[in-house]
Amino acid sequence: NGLNSKEATDARGFHGEEEDKEIQKSDFPHGFLFGISTSAYQIEGAYLEDGKSLSNWDAYSHIPGSIEDGENGDICDDHYHRYLEDVELVHSLGVNAYRFSISWSRILPRGRFGEVNAAGIKFYSSVIDNLLLRGIEPFVTIHHNDLPQELEDKYQAWLSPLIQEDFVHFAKICFENFGDRVKYWITINEPNTYADLGYIQGKYPPARCSKPFGNCYAGNSDVEPLIAMHNVLLAHAKAAKQGGSIGVVISGTMNEPLRDNENDLEAVNRALAFSVAWNLDPLLFGDYPPEMRRYLGSELPQFSPEETEYVKGSIDFVGVNHYTTLYAKDCMHSRCAEGGDHAIRGYAYTTGERDGVPIGEPTGMLPCYVVPRGIEEMINYLKKRYHNMPMFVAENGYASLEHQNAQMQDLLHDTKRIEFHKAYLASLARAIRNGADVRGYFIWTLMDDFEWMHGYSTKFGLYYVDPTTLDRIPKLSAAWYKNFLSSHSLDF
Ligand code: NOJ
Repeated sequence: NGLNSKEATDARGFHGEEEDKEIQKSDFPHGFLFGISTSAYQIEGAYLEDGKSLSNWDAYSHIPGSIEDGENGDICDDHYHRYLEDVELVHSLGVNAYRFSISWSRILPRGRFGEVNAAGIKFYSSVIDNLLLRGIEPFVTIHHNDLPQELEDKYQAWLSPLIQEDFVHFAKICFENFGDRVKYWITINEPNTYADLGYIQGKYPPARCSKPFGNCYAGNSDVEPLIAMHNVLLAHAKAAKQGGSIGVVISGTMNEPLRDNENDLEAVNRALAFSVAWNLDPLLFGDYPPEMRRYLGSELPQFSPEETEYVKGSIDFVGVNHYTTLYAKDCMHSRCAEGGDHAIRGYAYTTGERDGVPIGEPTGMLPCYVVPRGIEEMINYLKKRYHNMPMFVAENGYASLEHQNAQMQDLLHDTKRIEFHKAYLASLARAIRNGADVRGYFIWTLMDDFEWMHGYSTKFGLYYVDPTTLDRIPKLSAAWYKNFLSSHSLDF
């Protein structure tokens, strides 16, 4: 599994033959889904309205120092009140799919210890109906980072097996209430990021970590991320038994060797195994990647024979969020002073620079760099390791690099974002032409929103949101996407 030396070189060299040809919608298969993605906590606001309870992100963002710009999602883009306007924005882009998530604490304010909140059901039902009315396929993420704080307080949420029953209960209520209209379900967004930022780096709630990863309240980074992931996988598999076309979405950062040698190539394979395959191997093959077993030994949890049976084959498609490619450096054969020589990282250090030269143009959210070939490489990695099962690019987006005193006109004139999407789409089209079964592509994101630990300072939206009036104003990229999706597209 993974890339060997020759393939990695081919993948680097293999592009450019049609560099001059402008990418078009017709370069993609018939019936391909072109969409746009959002998530509940990042846009909704209305954080304590209509029966919603405090989520882990409501609690965390209110702790001074946790969010870079000191902000929170209390009001956010106020999507909860403006969703009809937002569905119209989605529609006006001409997309045929929209990915959004359901706030757990809006549907089940007390998890399985309380009642279903009818107002929450009504809200998402209306979002779905309004999408369908406009011919837009809803792609629903059941859990995208936010959960009722009570579950964290009661039993430490993803660190306890009790979360499995809570998640299954939540998923069941979603299937029962929306399953008549929703065909595509994503159980959990980016478990690999969740485990990393929540339990290794301590930058997402519950902000746990341990030396050498950061200064957190508490934690043990050797085992907690492994336990959290184990509970995620079992929760997913138990919920997946119940309905629809089901997938998970993983964070698929691609890696290339820092140096052209065997050790760094192996580091690439380990880095991918310890992020992507950590999440996906169990769901396809019923066990963790052999690479992880080799280096983590008995610290890696075991699936019982019965668990193996229901975890294995529990997805119908793989969703991948792809933002960047980083170099990987071997930290097993020689120590890495910069970090990375730790079992939980697969003894691989990832970096965006080689001898001070960035791997691609830096974006406004480091360590994300513009490396279009990476999406083709990531799809090829998934294609090979998972026998070309159906794939969706569930997120791909560009964080603007903004000057401190940027004028509104500069913010709206986001030509770099347009170039980013054109180049990534061209790279994706190559993977598809070479046989990858990719069925959809979703841009992250509809409008500027709450970017987790970065707050509102990092902007991915195709629409600008005025901080005082919350008016949505289209950026040039919104016009570009609309034009790209119309059958008579013009050069942009
Ligand atoms: C992936 C996450 O799913 C999304 O919530 C986040 O905003 C983007 N990455 C950009 O960081």
